[in-house]
Amino acid sequence: MSIFKYIHSASVVNEGRVEKLNILIEGNRIIKISKSELSDFPLDTTVIDAKGLTLLPGGIDVHVHFREPGLEEKADMKSESKAALAGGITSVFEMPNTKPLTITQKALEEKLEIASQNMLCNYGFFFGITNSNILEAINLPFGMACGLKLFLGSSTGNMLVDDKKVLTELFEQSPMVISAHCEDEKRVKELTQKYKEEFGEEAQTIIHPLVRDSQACYLSSKYAIENTGNKTRLNIAHITTEKELSLLSSSPIEEKNITAEVSPSHLWFCDEDYPLLGNKIKCNPAIKTKKDRDALRKALREDKIDLIATDHAPHLLEEKEKPYFSAPSGIPSIQHSMLIMLELVKQGELSIEKMVEKMSHNPAKLFSIKDRGFIKEGQYADLVLVDLNSKTLVDKESLFYKCKWSPLEGVEFSSRILTTIVNGEIKYADKKIISETPGYKVEFMSIE
Ligand code: DOR
Ligand code: ZN
Repeated sequence: MSIFKYIHSASVVNEGRVEKLNILIEGNRIIKISKSELSDFPLDTTVIDAKGLTLLPGGIDVHVHFREPGLEEKADMKSESKAALAGGITSVFEMPNTKPLTITQKALEEKLEIASQNMLCNYGFFFGITNSNILEAINLPFGMACGLKLFLGSSTGNMLVDDKKVLTELFEQSPMVISAHCEDEKRVKELTQKYKEEFGEEAQTIIHPLVRDSQACYLSSKYAIENTGNKTRLNIAHITTEKELSLLSSSPIEEKNITAEVSPSHLWFCDEDYPLLGNKIKCNPAIKTKKDRDALRKALREDKIDLIATDHAPHLLEEKEKPYFSAPSGIPSIQHSMLIMLELVKQGELSIEKMVEKMSHNPAKLFSIKDRGFIKEGQYADLVLVDLNSKTLVDKESLFYKCKWSPLEGVEFSSRILTTIVNGEIKYADKKIISETPGYKVEFMSIE
């Protein structure tokens, strides 16, 4: 196949604009973007006719759980990165609650080694903070991890940091973005106890947002924010409540030390979905009320929320079929995050430019990612071609997840992800993975 690709006449969404453009790719980079037709490329160039179609920068999902190593019965890097590509996501940052936990440099090196063979999209890995590994975290070689993950509430993996001294030191010294899972541990424990006594094995998932309630989220996010120092870069992962939004500002992302992320699942589902979907939408922090969901959508429009990231967290269906208190938390979601967001665009909840800002531009800005996240000459060609006038039915056969289920089965989206290009290579097209060459480790710009 030619190293040249010419995307002809696409409706390109980038940096706040939608424009009809022609794009030339050589090797792994975009080399030319033009309003007029280009013709100065070799005869054997692969031409993609994008008339009537929309071209977006590939999604950068900064919060995924791919389960490898150690939990491969649930998922692995290959299966889930295929799902990412099918969903228009070209880079992922993966979380440290694997087995072993990614809390030592050695474990991180092993993960990077596995990824270099098996991750089909681009990737970075978070390093997990514990009560005793801060020194190792802040002394990691530059660029080895994409950021630090801090669990202020315990969830799958048990990596709770509950030592205030550790938190203060971390916030003073971390050169990296700290992504924090915020749920007040003490409150969640008390409420769990209370509801276990009240309902026992009979409990239904609809109580999940009462067990892990809004106040637990608010208290923990507030605590994290109050403890940041001048130089701390804190990203509150998966915001779920209206109340937490009062802690956030609408300043441009370049000026923020405290940012926030929301998952498409929390923008799509609400407590009214528990009776039908039960544990399939059990996740931490919990999906809350419709009022919370609508406030999250508004906060996205108003830039209080900066990023969209899935928290893609697959578990086996048989685990999810256990009674409420025994079923694990987490939703597989990466294959449909962009489709959910495009649906919200069609419903008038946000503009497509804003969607691209939150899914591609802002992740690149916040994490200082080198040469990705925009459709620009010189950047890597990480691109996704979508048809806003063609439907996608979510059924079991179409799922790339190793766990082979989704809470969205049966849903029909009114857009379709057609083609996903990573580092200049067409990796997904016509509903199939067409190349299994590995992605690249994401590189970072030094902020000094
Ligand atoms: O629902 C969740 N699932 N929340 C987390 O914090 C962890 C994740 C998982 O790894 O399963
Ligand atoms: Zn997570």
